[in-house]
Amino acid sequence: MSKIKDVAVIGTGVIGIGWIIRCLAHGKRVRAYDINPKNKNDLIEEIKRTRPFIKKVFYKNKINLKNLSFFTKLDEALLNAEIIFECVPENYSVKIKLMKQIGLFSKPFSVISSSSSGLLPSKIYSKCKNPQRGLIGHPFNPVYLLPGVEIVPGKKTKKVYINKARKFYKSISMNPIMIKKELPGYLADRLQEALWREGLHIINEGHATTEDLDRAIEDGPGIRWSLMGTFLTFHLAGGKAGMKHMLEQFGPALKLPWTKLKSPTLTKKLVNRLVTGTKKQSKGKSVARISNIRDEYFVNLLKLRKKYENKIRN
Ligand SMILES: NC(=O)c1ccc[n+]([C@@H]2O[C@H](COP(=O)([O-])OP(=O)(O)OC[C@H]3O[C@@H](n4cnc5c(N)ncnc54)[C@H](O)[C@@H]3O)[C@@H](O)[C@H]2O)c1
Repeated sequence: MSKIKDVAVIGTGVIGIGWIIRCLAHGKRVRAYDINPKNKNDLIEEIKRTRPFIKKVFYKNKINLKNLSFFTKLDEALLNAEIIFECVPENYSVKIKLMKQIGLFSKPFSVISSSSSGLLPSKIYSKCKNPQRGLIGHPFNPVYLLPGVEIVPGKKTKKVYINKARKFYKSISMNPIMIKKELPGYLADRLQEALWREGLHIINEGHATTEDLDRAIEDGPGIRWSLMGTFLTFHLAGGKAGMKHMLEQFGPALKLPWTKLKSPTLTKKLVNRLVTGTKKQSKGKSVARISNIRDEYFVNLLKLRKKYENKIRN
């Protein structure tokens, strides 16, 4: 079990807030920092909004706001932190610059974990004086509810820090997915990206709206995916003979030119279709309102999933 109690969260946007809520719900002391101090208000609002969901998922774990401190200086936020979550925008130059500072001011032997969705850790830590302590801990939104986190080492990351991170993530009720070597996009976002690109092509060509494509996932594959990934799902699609028969039947379709793979250009027309399409789907509901509906659904789904996932995985 991880003994880490003090954490720092740098960047308190969507993902930083998610880490803060999850860590607070597990009794950690959190030191937060953002270049925009106004973000503190969003953070407090989000803690309030998510309170009922946190209570349901983590049962007795209540959030004690005394465990949260917000700082206006990076070095003060890093003080004493044994694990640091970097959650600034997905941009190499921003992250490289920040990691250089984190390397200078962080406590020796602390783990530095970037939330990046697909950038290479060796590059992110290229100007950091302690790349051996740096890795990626890629979570999924909403971080306070979803258990997955991809741990990706850089070329210089030492095993001891990977193990420390793994133990820590487990201590906040997460299921780390260990990736042996860095690769762009890691695993989950590489898969998501393929789907996203195909969707953009279909919308660009005018075959469907954002809503049509969302329904195509929500009512079919999406329900399956919450219990089983693509491979086990396709194994069942082959009937008694499983994957072998599935490949005999659908293997030839791999040669058909169904997918486009290269991404389309984000032209004004395509951006407009995506923005107006999703706005229409929202039916006047705010992002916070839809997030509440999603979170309530996830809380119930996670409970249901717990009952079945062990039967599949063990
Ligand atoms: N949004 C998602 O679904 C998601 C999922 C998984 C991982 N991620 C990753 O998490 C990271 C953060 O993404 P996000 O969606 O939370 O972005 P965001 O835009 O919501 O938040 C970024 C925050 O970083 C702050 N910031 C910018 N530069 C800073 C600096 N130098 N020091 C301190 N704070 C700084 C901004 O003020 C902002 O509050 C990215 O690397 C992203 O790829 C995002």
